[in-house]
Amino acid sequence: MLADKDRIFTNLYGFESPGLEAAKKRGQWDNTKAILELGPETIVDIMKKSGLRGRGGAGFPTGLKWSFMPKEVKERPHYLVVNADESEPGTCKDRDIMRHDPHLLIEGCLIASFAMQAHVCYVYIRGEYILERERLEAAVKQAYEARLIGKNNIHGWDFDLYVHHGAGAYICGEETALLESLEGKKGQPRLKPPFPAGAGVYGCPTTVNNVESIAQAPDILRRGSDWFASFGRPNNTGTKLMSISGHVMKPCNVEEAMSIPMKQLLEEHCGGVRGGWSNLKAVIPGGVSVAMIPAEQAETALMDFDSLRDLKSGLGTAAVIVMDKSTDLVKAIARISYFYKHESCGQCTPCREGTGWMWRVMERMAVGDAEPEEIDHLLEVASQVEGHTICALGDAAAWPIQGLFRHFRHEVEERIADYRTRRPHVQGAAMAAE
Ligand SMILES: Cc1cc2nc3c(=O)[nH]c(=O)nc-3n(C[C@H](O)[C@H](O)[C@H](O)COP(=O)(O)O)c2cc1C
Ligand code: SF4
Repeated sequence: MLADKDRIFTNLYGFESPGLEAAKKRGQWDNTKAILELGPETIVDIMKKSGLRGRGGAGFPTGLKWSFMPKEVKERPHYLVVNADESEPGTCKDRDIMRHDPHLLIEGCLIASFAMQAHVCYVYIRGEYILERERLEAAVKQAYEARLIGKNNIHGWDFDLYVHHGAGAYICGEETALLESLEGKKGQPRLKPPFPAGAGVYGCPTTVNNVESIAQAPDILRRGSDWFASFGRPNNTGTKLMSISGHVMKPCNVEEAMSIPMKQLLEEHCGGVRGGWSNLKAVIPGGVSVAMIPAEQAETALMDFDSLRDLKSGLGTAAVIVMDKSTDLVKAIARISYFYKHESCGQCTPCREGTGWMWRVMERMAVGDAEPEEIDHLLEVASQVEGHTICALGDAAAWPIQGLFRHFRHEVEERIADYRTRRPHVQGAAMAAE
């Protein structure tokens, strides 16, 4: 287990106050000026060396992303935008940072903005997060009053932070849809390029980062890149918040070292699978966008980017959804397909039409009311949606279906056969009527 001294999120469960005084006692805002005095280049360099990969789902290296921003500010100002949309089903980590330890995020925003020469940062927070927004806004007010941020603050870098409340749409978590929404437009993803570092919010150089990525930055810079990189394994370093839900005895959010074996995570932190490990059927390891893995693979999988990618799944947001043998996996995936159909912004034809089509077929498969050949047809359509859309929502709609058939195709086939046995009249209904 990760030792308490190595935790970044020391108030994850809200046992202490989220306020400034308590945050300072936990080590936040401790000589932040000294970090800024390192200068932007050194800060970006340390972030690169730490190996931190974005915690919002895609795992893009954070230091490298920061280095894409123009080195000099010309006529267009630079911006940092923090993605606090947290809409990926199963994921509930950023909310605990914002409601229990908001100063971690605010300090990270100041440091990251300075490293990218931005004087303004927007935190775009999910519409449903009311308490989280209130807590964050209260902490921002405290930071202004203590002159930690704002004009002429004690750190010598003028910096304004705005909390912007979304209206509650999954697609507004996609970084360019988020920027559109922030500008007051309909939240629809933009075509890339240009990437946000070239033209982001208001057409200006912008970096979009997840809450957890930014909240980890102050500790990385205080304790050093070697300290952070000592957890996990190469290319998968650091500590990570993991949200475990579903059929475990104690669902929880926990900070752990990357690359912890999935089985250890479930047994040590969640009291194990309901009914014991042998009762495990499948796990969705990174939020509903990634493919499920069966129990045999969960036995040896590591909670990191590479291990789960090798299993044709992904770490995503490290939101682990555990499903025991009582789970109707086909029905579960049909429900997930409905989610994607509902959240598609409708801009691209494969996603707009494909998500609805796949959901309707999945609903029929969930009861067995389908032809066996339709399985291959469904997989063909899923592969036509995957990789053929403006944003990754299309992929996210295809992957759960592909994961189901990769490991549990026999279950759907059996269900279709069973349905036919129970309702033979369906097959020959027309002929019989003649
Ligand atoms: C449909 C969709 C929804 C997304 N939702 C979120 C989200 O709620 N929070 C988030 O941080 N990233 C989300 N992302 C990923 C962002 O586009 C982006 O990669 C991320 O904010 C970058 O931050 P990071 O580099 O710190 O991970 C989503 C992506 C897609 C395609
Ligand atoms: S993939 Fe779907 S959600 Fe993304 S832009 Fe296209 S239609 Fe919109």
